[in-house]
Amino acid sequence: MKNIAILCSGGDVSGMNPALKHFVEYSLQKGLTPYFIYNGFEGLIDNKIVKVSHKHVGGIINRGGTIIGSTRSERFMDREFRKIAKKNLDTLDIDMLVVLGGDGSFRGMDIFYKEHGVKFCGIPSTIDNDINGTEYCLGVDTALNVIKDSIDNIRDTAASFSRAFVIETMGRNCGYLALVSALCSGAELCLIPEVEYDLKEYEESFKAQIKNGRNYFIAIVSEGIKEESSEIAKWFEQKIGFESRVTILGHTQRGGNPTIYDRLMAYKFVNHAIDGLLDGKNKSMICYAKKGFEYKNIDEVTSQKYQLDRELLGYLKVLNV
Ligand code: F6P
Repeated sequence: MKNIAILCSGGDVSGMNPALKHFVEYSLQKGLTPYFIYNGFEGLIDNKIVKVSHKHVGGIINRGGTIIGSTRSERFMDREFRKIAKKNLDTLDIDMLVVLGGDGSFRGMDIFYKEHGVKFCGIPSTIDNDINGTEYCLGVDTALNVIKDSIDNIRDTAASFSRAFVIETMGRNCGYLALVSALCSGAELCLIPEVEYDLKEYEESFKAQIKNGRNYFIAIVSEGIKEESSEIAKWFEQKIGFESRVTILGHTQRGGNPTIYDRLMAYKFVNHAIDGLLDGKNKSMICYAKKGFEYKNIDEVTSQKYQLDRELLGYLKVLNV
């Protein structure tokens, strides 16, 4: 009987719990003994590793976050702590890991593999959707749906009270969440870190729209742009002459009932991750692209920065006119 473990690293996402549930079920189906590592790489160092079965994953499929916890571990960057982590895995005879996280976590795992030969398959998991090599990261659909609901609610009050709303999404340095949300929510303005902007360019058009009867504005801005959201709101007040409010969606975007799409993707990612490990893929990430799932070597994933989809960027130009 071979042993396999799973951990979550970095910002949690909705979809991790469905992934944990399927990890246990599919491992057992494959004749593997599944283990949970609690609190990410920190738990790997602190030996928070527990053998699990069906009873550990009952009733979790509808819950956001992760029941095993997640951390950003500084200690795992240190060779001495990685040695302790390896010792903990050896004691339990575990040499295969499934890692739910981002490219930073996979880079850490790559070093761990090179030093100690612990095989791993990464499942891209971040609401930012900013991992090179995959078009989809677990949790993005749930986050987009949370954002959509918030924007729809804000539109009700914006339209009733004739205001401009500046709504800030997460994404670190990636504008994916903001851009997709703006396109799907009919926003008047979208600002993202990848694209330079000059607010002056919109002044004439926005004033003309007001003359033609526009009585509210929705601006979606991504964290990571050159200005604070409050500056954009000030611009609406001072240059467009519109009362304005800011809503920073913040960590609401990281929680919530996982959507059907994220539950299904969790299922598929886990299947492929375990199959890949059993098939001899020692240091890969399971990626999703239009043509389907494919394994990519971790070096390929981490060698380049994620580039926002060109088609989406093209739509941004049309939106911001
Ligand atoms: O990586 C996911 C993310 O939610 C980013 O969008 C955001 O910048 C960051 O994590 C927030 O981190 P923390 O939870 O540590 O505040």
